[in-house]
Amino acid sequence: MRIFSGIQPSGSMHIGNYLGAVRQWVDAQNPEAFYCIVDLHALTLQIDPADLREQTLDFLATLLAAGLDPEVCTLFIQSQVPYHAQMNWLLECVASYGELSRMTQFKDKAGRQEGYRVGLLTYPVLMAADILLYSADQVPVGDDQRQHLELTREIAERFNHRYGEVFTVPAGVQPRASARVMDLQEPTRKMSKSLASPLGLIYLNDDPSEIDKKIKKAVTDTDNEVRFDPAVKPGLSNLLEMFASFSGETPATVAQRYERYGDLKADLSALVIESLTPIQQRYRELRADVGALRELAARGAEKAADVAGPLYQRAAAAMGL
Ligand code: TYM
Repeated sequence: MRIFSGIQPSGSMHIGNYLGAVRQWVDAQNPEAFYCIVDLHALTLQIDPADLREQTLDFLATLLAAGLDPEVCTLFIQSQVPYHAQMNWLLECVASYGELSRMTQFKDKAGRQEGYRVGLLTYPVLMAADILLYSADQVPVGDDQRQHLELTREIAERFNHRYGEVFTVPAGVQPRASARVMDLQEPTRKMSKSLASPLGLIYLNDDPSEIDKKIKKAVTDTDNEVRFDPAVKPGLSNLLEMFASFSGETPATVAQRYERYGDLKADLSALVIESLTPIQQRYRELRADVGALRELAARGAEKAADVAGPLYQRAAAAMGL
């Protein structure tokens, strides 16, 4: 089973990324799994070059600390494999302006800024290039990437129809719980790196007192009944879902054990701290050795290029290049 997925090294990794995607990556890792830090994608929004460089290494160390093993899977940095940018161009000549301008994430992000970059519009094509270069069957992602994945399937099918069978049409895979972790302060909005609200996000590198504070201050409701009901009780249900993801239960089972919001929050906070502490410790060790991280990325890029290169050549040849 060929697997591909990616994460943007913008800001810091939060538990939405972890529960929605990265934890699935770890569970599914095998020699046919390719995981990518998509630094080219991070250029679609304003980012300081020095920050991008550092955050790319932060993300690499975090993914290793979370349990990815480069001896088992391939872990690499997108810009170090030039076929992504090359394939992007081929696919920009397959995708249509209309379908890109209909993407919800584009409308959302473009609506928030003047003079947005063209890359913000064409970004899902680069994402399709990422996935199709590795002939991925499965793409483990959170719920917010579902539309982009649907577009990838469209592009793959259109290409195959026009130019002959080159691409595998991939399927998205969502986690059982926490496919959409919500902001703790605005629980009807997803937790998001690009909409940082100071108390709304729990970062993987938050210290115990920050985690505790954020969970205790999480917005709930006033009817004081512990029940899993995302439509009516979005804040509380988000906490229950988070709890269930970390403990391996269902949100409804967790709900049955509690009568008071305060008790649920206190136990959730302890559970999150206990789950993240070992990751944070490994992270600090790994992040200290920049030479080792760079070497590991170079090896990952070589392994990735061995797969992406021939696929790119086939696609280019099919188009007449
Ligand atoms: P990115 O960097 O925004 O997010 C990385 C992964 O985290 C998931 N995620 C969430 N899951 C649950 N709840 C949330 N609040 C939450 N926020 C983020 C995302 O769904 C994603 O799986 N375009 C992609 C990166 C990308 C990619 C790819 C993914 C580029 N090429 C190819 C898969 C395959 C993105 O911006 O993810």
